[in-house]
Amino acid sequence: MRKMLLTTMTVSLVGLWACAPATTDAPPPPVVSAPAIDGPADSAPAQKLTLGFAQVGAESDWRKANTESIKAEAEKRGHELKFSDAQQKQENQIKAIRSFIAQGVDVIAFAPVVETGWDAVLAEAKAANIPVILSDRTINTQDETLYTAFVGSDFREEGRRAGKWLAEKTNGEASILELQGTPGSAPANERKAGFAEAIADFPNMKIVKSQTGEFTRAMGKEVMEAFLKTPEGQGATALYAHNDDMAIGAIQAIEAAGKKPGQDIVIVSVDGVKDAFLAIQEGKLNCTVECNPLLGPPIFDLAEKLVAGEQVPKITYSEEGVFDENNYADVINDRKY
Ligand code: AHR
Repeated sequence: MRKMLLTTMTVSLVGLWACAPATTDAPPPPVVSAPAIDGPADSAPAQKLTLGFAQVGAESDWRKANTESIKAEAEKRGHELKFSDAQQKQENQIKAIRSFIAQGVDVIAFAPVVETGWDAVLAEAKAANIPVILSDRTINTQDETLYTAFVGSDFREEGRRAGKWLAEKTNGEASILELQGTPGSAPANERKAGFAEAIADFPNMKIVKSQTGEFTRAMGKEVMEAFLKTPEGQGATALYAHNDDMAIGAIQAIEAAGKKPGQDIVIVSVDGVKDAFLAIQEGKLNCTVECNPLLGPPIFDLAEKLVAGEQVPKITYSEEGVFDENNYADVINDRKY
């Protein structure tokens, strides 16, 4: 008989998914309690299930790794995965979720492209008794019962870590350019807020230009080129990019403008993908704050428990590190994405 691992949980608001080692002394996200998702509880095979996943798109290396993790985990466990790529459009995600409901899947999971506008379709899933897992990104809703669980990163903490790292690196003095993620998305909103919080105590750290680069390399490059043509851009000493892909695009623009990325402009970004580690190795990127895309295992752990009628934590955060020239070498060879 399946062991009921979570039935003794009293405070089960927040869990911690430890799939990446914390290789930094940065403070961990606030954890109310840490009942980690434990995986299959005993040798009894989990019931085969069908999970509908509505993905954002394929905008970044992070996203591609995230998709790969979900597909690989479904295959490994022998579950059926109905996968939909929304190509950055909320209406496509809503259509996909409606189609999953119509097909009667056991569990729906999705990475919301933006934070708002989900209540109607999630009410339909709830009425059909299909549990919903928010993967990677949170939503804004007055009704928290519209989803069963969230698994992903603490984006605000990632922003704080980036700001804190930059304050230390620059001794609290920087004219900062900011490349934001997709407008209205949880990572863009929260990473911006967390960074602003961290630099608020440093009067000589100022964001002088801020614009979206849509989480893509191409837009990161394009927006950085435009920044560098302005007086603020020409005087900038630092760049904060909400993801590595935009930072890598910006590095190309900085080099094209005859400046040295990593020296003339100190660069901190978020994700921790392989190309960011390579850029740190080359001295062109200074720091990447990790955001773990390997959410396939915790998503299917949650889905299996839900199908088995077990209790799951409402929030499960990934455990993540901060990497710069001092510790990137510990990880670079093992980073697969
Ligand atoms: O939601 C996670 C963010 O989305 C990643 O930081 C970014 O690379 C992706 O596109």
